[in-house]
Amino acid sequence: MQSRVARLDRFISVRTGINRKHVRLMLAQGRVQVDGVPATDIQQPVGEFSRVLLDGEVLQANTPRYVMLHKPVGVVSATRDTLHKTVIDLLECPDADTLHIVGRLDLNSSGLLLLTNDGRWSRELTSPQSKVSKQYRVTLANPIGEDYVAAFAGGMYFAYEDITTRPAGLRILSERVAEVTLVEGRYHQIKRMFGRFRNPVLALHRHAIGNLALDPNLEPGQSRELTCQEVRSIAGKVPAN
Ligand code: URA
Repeated sequence: MQSRVARLDRFISVRTGINRKHVRLMLAQGRVQVDGVPATDIQQPVGEFSRVLLDGEVLQANTPRYVMLHKPVGVVSATRDTLHKTVIDLLECPDADTLHIVGRLDLNSSGLLLLTNDGRWSRELTSPQSKVSKQYRVTLANPIGEDYVAAFAGGMYFAYEDITTRPAGLRILSERVAEVTLVEGRYHQIKRMFGRFRNPVLALHRHAIGNLALDPNLEPGQSRELTCQEVRSIAGKVPAN
């Protein structure tokens, strides 16, 4: 997802159709405001959430949005789909179609799914360098062996992508239930990792991303906006409450 940054004179010219020479004059005359401050520098960067006014008229006023959804099984993590209901269909806000998904869940997985219109935030959460953890509760068809723990921690080679998975945590909670912690999101990663032991995944539920846990008050299909503290603390920069 791109977070768009443009030069102020270009931005105004594209938005209004006024040629750049005239835009520069308008800037010099103090007719433009960016985030409440008169702007005169033609090179001033305009981000996707900068509020830009020309002669008091709003040219751009996007609000960053951050939503947590309790994704139910059977709903697809996509913005459009011809067969299934999508996670966007579940959101009640009018601008739902401006949001994108931060780290998908499979059709038959459930749990915490984040959506935003802030490309910089979603990139930060999903980039391999940031190593934001994701926690899943996994129910399996067969008993889980102690030997799984070392195999998950040691990484598994996936020939199709020619990669070795990063060390993953596995905590055995009961005979057929485990908590798995990943710092990446390869295609069907957990199912494929348990597949190495010929142990099919029966249910997969993501309950946390970084410092953020799925709100227990959200029923499957329900969503809510994140608080400012949650937005800032999720990647572990500020301790969550
Ligand atoms: N791993 C999977 O196999 N499926 C998911 O939905 C998430 C992680």
